Amino acid sequence: MIVLGIETSCDETAAAVVTDGREILANKVLSQLDEHAPYGGVVPEIAARSHLDHIDRLVREAMDEAGLDLRALDGIAVTGGPGLIGGVMVGAITAKTLAQVLDKPLINVNHLEAHALSVRLTEAEADFPYLLLLVTGGHCQLVSVEDVGRYTVLGTTIDDAIGEAFDKTAKMLGLPYPGGPALEAAAERGDGTRFDFPRPMMGRPGCDFSFSGLKTAVAQTVDRLAAAGPNATDQGATDQAGTGLSAGDVDDVAASFQAAAVAATLDRTRAALARFRTVHPGTPRLVVAGGVAANRALRAALEELAGEAGAVLCAPPPALCTDNAAMVAWAGVERLGRGLTDGLDFAPRPRWPLGDVRADPA
Ligand code: KG4
Ligand code: ZN
Repeated sequence: MIVLGIETSCDETAAAVVTDGREILANKVLSQLDEHAPYGGVVPEIAARSHLDHIDRLVREAMDEAGLDLRALDGIAVTGGPGLIGGVMVGAITAKTLAQVLDKPLINVNHLEAHALSVRLTEAEADFPYLLLLVTGGHCQLVSVEDVGRYTVLGTTIDDAIGEAFDKTAKMLGLPYPGGPALEAAAERGDGTRFDFPRPMMGRPGCDFSFSGLKTAVAQTVDRLAAAGPNATDQGATDQAGTGLSAGDVDDVAASFQAAAVAATLDRTRAALARFRTVHPGTPRLVVAGGVAANRALRAALEELAGEAGAVLCAPPPALCTDNAAMVAWAGVERLGRGLTDGLDFAPRPRWPLGDVRADPA
């Protein structure tokens, strides 16, 4: 089975070809970073126009790289939501047109489901059920993944997603967009014990997350350091990117923020593992996915947690953690194999919780 995947729900235009034998025949990702960087965040209108300009070429390049004609495909999978609606519409129209002209099955993939199943593309032993920690720019959830389309959300964020907290903290520190990777790099140079930031929800019952209090604490610290000036902590230091902080301050705030965010995430994951175990006895499998799963400090901490909790950690390679179309194509393979195809009339959705994903053929 060979499936084309299309992803246009945020700021990556992507097309990939994947087989049910777990081969990635092509995986093209075009980042719109440069187009959004001047604005310090994704501008939906710019994103939609850019997807429109590039998606045809990316599909063609993916097919060329796979060495296949479009007629060789067994299905066309596309992210139908959740995401920025203009971009999702571009992908959906592209996929619907291809499916209609080629007379191939169409698979409407939930972007979160694509992240949730991505580990099964690279790890043959990632059998159901598993506990998923899904950490992206828009979502932060702990999910019991029981089967394709069968997801029980154990915990979610009550305010910001963790990736959003990374991005906003990075912005406060004058770090370049996108914030997550830049903040991680700064954190690796800094002292994570210098500021004792709150670890929101730690020790609370349940498995929900919260990051807004941490973000506020960081903002207050940044204001205090800026008022004191870059020289207050580092003699002769210069102002970093107009923040009023020295480079050392920036690195220490980044490291202290990352330490708090990782500790809070670990605590919630520990609670979810305990709950998962009451339903699924035996050695639990813990899977981390989504853009923030590329963070090395988080991966190392989860590895340690898995060790102490007697769980097995599976993480897709970083390139499959951030947005890509191979995960969409793979979700398409999984759904097509179960007869879960969709009509040409499906509506793109800006919001689409995992719990609303269809598990049974129509
Ligand atoms: O899954 P993803 O590519 O897109 C969404 O579906 O949101 O996740 C993007 C998020 C952004 O917030 C980005 O800053 C964050 O993942 N991210 C990271 C790292 N790489 C990407 N956060 C922390 N450390 C990283 N290395
Ligand atoms: Zn994503």
